[in-house]
Amino acid sequence: MKRQLHFNLFINSRGHHEASWRHPDASPLALSDIRYYQDLATRAEAGLFDSIFLADQLAARDDVERAPRVWLEPITALGALAMTTSRIGLIATASTTYTEPYNLARQFASLDFISSGRAGWNIVTSWSAPAAANYGDDAQVSHAERYARAEEFMQVAKGLWDSWADDAIVDDRESGIYARPDRIRPINHKGDFYKVAGPLNMPRGPQGRPVLVQAGSSDTGRRFAARHAEAVFTAHMEKATAQAFYKDLKGLVAELGRPADQIHILPGLSAVIGSTEAEAQRMAQDLNDLADPEVGRKRLSSRFGGHDFSHLPLDTPLKPEDFPDPSTVQAARSRTELIVGLVRNEGLTLRQLLSKLAGARGHFTFAGTPEQVADLIEDWFTNGAADGFNIMPPLLPPMLQTFVDEVIPILQKRGLFRTEYEGETLREHYGLKRPEGMRP
Ligand SMILES: Cc1cc2nc3c(=O)[nH]c(=O)nc-3n(C[C@H](O)[C@H](O)[C@H](O)COP(=O)(O)O)c2cc1C
Repeated sequence: MKRQLHFNLFINSRGHHEASWRHPDASPLALSDIRYYQDLATRAEAGLFDSIFLADQLAARDDVERAPRVWLEPITALGALAMTTSRIGLIATASTTYTEPYNLARQFASLDFISSGRAGWNIVTSWSAPAAANYGDDAQVSHAERYARAEEFMQVAKGLWDSWADDAIVDDRESGIYARPDRIRPINHKGDFYKVAGPLNMPRGPQGRPVLVQAGSSDTGRRFAARHAEAVFTAHMEKATAQAFYKDLKGLVAELGRPADQIHILPGLSAVIGSTEAEAQRMAQDLNDLADPEVGRKRLSSRFGGHDFSHLPLDTPLKPEDFPDPSTVQAARSRTELIVGLVRNEGLTLRQLLSKLAGARGHFTFAGTPEQVADLIEDWFTNGAADGFNIMPPLLPPMLQTFVDEVIPILQKRGLFRTEYEGETLREHYGLKRPEGMRP
């Protein structure tokens, strides 16, 4: 069979465009209403997406007056969505910096049981600076320490998921034996950051471990992804950087002896789809006209660890010196490099930069017909830039629905996307092996 595309739906606000929440065609439901997420998951499942994904930040935002910074805690929300969907994978974000591995291992094992094997974990180290103040720290944990902690966290979490063998439970009423104690083992972990005895207090989930997803793009982040990730989210504003990222990461994976098809690279794609190119451009312009540059300015500041951009005029070309050196930023380093690179190469004004970032915060944006979107997807997929996409509709639900109704059928006709779900679990959708677990 021809190599197949994978699609994940990234649910964010009423769409990924900064101004989507104000648009008359956006969903009328509140962002705290579970029915909003259920509706989107149902539409994505009808489109045979591999998965949906909920992002998470561990602090309230200071621009809530003019931007809807409201969402549900991901693992809780996905527990509810597991009950109203049956096939689509459910990927929740959780932080290795501000969670204990024992808590997290239980939560994901539980979600995996509740969803019958559809759980995925987006492993984040939490780039946002204000989170530290909510977890007892005066200062943000440095980029290097966050990844060092994450590495040890993975060792513990994997150990806990494997601390029950697949055949540990006997549940034999006749003999009175419920479980085999020799098949449930402590992990006795003692490291720099964690001391965890184990075993977990529940059996191994249907997938063995949840599907592991990651989105680090810095050098350290990529090495972490190469070791652990089975799917990788990544942001690019042009095909060339996506190709370079793809080549680099697959190379790191090969160096570790992991098969290349056991890690799927999914760049973000935020497409406005119209029946003609002109209509799509008009729809994109309508969204841009609703965007508030002051919201963008605050968001930029948070990307650069709270750096003050308030003195910069909106309509004068920016210089790289207007930004702090990305290597000194403790937040999401790769995105800051992308932004400074854009300023250097394109000589944008602040207003132009904010308008570019308003579309999808530094992910690839596009406006065109369904045919053009399908061509772009096929081009990236066949030319070493992607194994599939993190679909980020600018406006929800209408621009998700257009993708499902008009782009997916074209890709199916080209033999690039499934016409029905073939497996039951998220691992099966992504063609991932089930981790072996405890040996006899
Ligand atoms: C599509 C996508 C989704 C992300 N979601 C989250 C998230 O929900 N929470 C979070 O703290 N970071 C999130 N990140 C940030 C990454 O986890 C990571 O910190 C960032 O890409 C920078 O990586 P680096 O520090 O290795 O450069 C996301 C990144 C991408 C590309």
